[in-house]
Amino acid sequence: METQEGQTLVTGGAGYVGSATVRELLRSGRRVRVLDSLLHGQRDVAEALERDGAEIIEGDVRDAESRRLALDGSSSVVHLAAIVGDPACAREPEVSEHVNVDATRDLLADARAQGVERFVFASTCSNYGRMADPSVPITEDGELRPVSRYAEQKVAIERGVLNGEAAGISGTCLRFATVYGTSPRMRFDLTVNEFTRDLWDDKDLEVFGERFWRPYIHVRDAARAIRTVLDADPEVVGGEVFNAGRSTENYRKLDLVDVIRAHTPSGRVTFVRREEDPRDYKVSFEKIKQTLGFETAMTVPDGVREVIGALAAGRFEDPYDRRYRNVD
Ligand SMILES: NC(=O)c1ccc[n+]([C@@H]2O[C@H](COP(=O)([O-])OP(=O)(O)OC[C@H]3O[C@@H](n4cnc5c(N)ncnc54)[C@H](O)[C@@H]3O)[C@@H](O)[C@H]2O)c1
Repeated sequence: METQEGQTLVTGGAGYVGSATVRELLRSGRRVRVLDSLLHGQRDVAEALERDGAEIIEGDVRDAESRRLALDGSSSVVHLAAIVGDPACAREPEVSEHVNVDATRDLLADARAQGVERFVFASTCSNYGRMADPSVPITEDGELRPVSRYAEQKVAIERGVLNGEAAGISGTCLRFATVYGTSPRMRFDLTVNEFTRDLWDDKDLEVFGERFWRPYIHVRDAARAIRTVLDADPEVVGGEVFNAGRSTENYRKLDLVDVIRAHTPSGRVTFVRREEDPRDYKVSFEKIKQTLGFETAMTVPDGVREVIGALAAGRFEDPYDRRYRNVD
């Protein structure tokens, strides 16, 4: 098996973050292969990426033969394929365990066996869960207190990527802030995108946990963070965790509502009590800035303007369509 320098396998490459990442990597001159099961019916996204120059393998990361085909000739892996988000994992606990934990371990082991040099794993700031003191931004070595199955699965795999399972591979975990903005595979089930759509569309928006902190990152900045890690010296990024975002982009939901309101006066907001999602974390993104010189280019207000522009231009025939969210 010959490893061709520069070929990058992106699992989940037809997803929200994945499709933006594939475009970013192609633009930077890399050869890109995608392994994706097109779980959300994104055939059109896959075809568009193919036209852009990516090689698409429609397959499942749980399937050994699909992994073998996808890894053949790849020198780097960006592992994004997953059952994404608390609601999706709670609805299908067994499937999510197989995809997010078992298949990730298998992919890592296969990658090592096939001579892959780098493995970048998409983790999440949700791992910080409910911080004991959210007034002090948490760094990568802070305590992980996941409050959902989804985050527990990410925490379980992080250790594997950084420790023994990645021996022989430069493994890096990027803990992404919650992502927003438009992407070839759009998601309207993410806070900024969902709130923006609903208010722009003059809907009644119910907001719970409005005082809890959370960081946000634009989808193209998330893609740039991945490219930055792939471009870095493996000695510098191997065995490391980086929070991916910007320290000044921590918001409470009530702040998000204010930002959106400044761009669209329509819609009504009610703040309600619900114990559903107790995540409360303020995150420091100084390590990725100091170590890799990575800084985001976009802010939440930029993203809100972008999403409103896309909605107003009619880019989404029906922005409430099932294809734009990960659960019914
Ligand atoms: N969106 C966020 O806010 C966010 C934040 C932190 C981390 N992440 C992580 O980033 C990654 C991408 O998330 P996203 O927002 O793009 O979600 P997404 O659901 O749009 O992307 C996931 C992709 O994986 C594919 N997939 C699912 N199961 C598969 C399987 N068994 N085999 C092959 N492909 C499969 C889907 O078809 C989809 O294209 C995930 O690992 C997620 O946990 C996302």
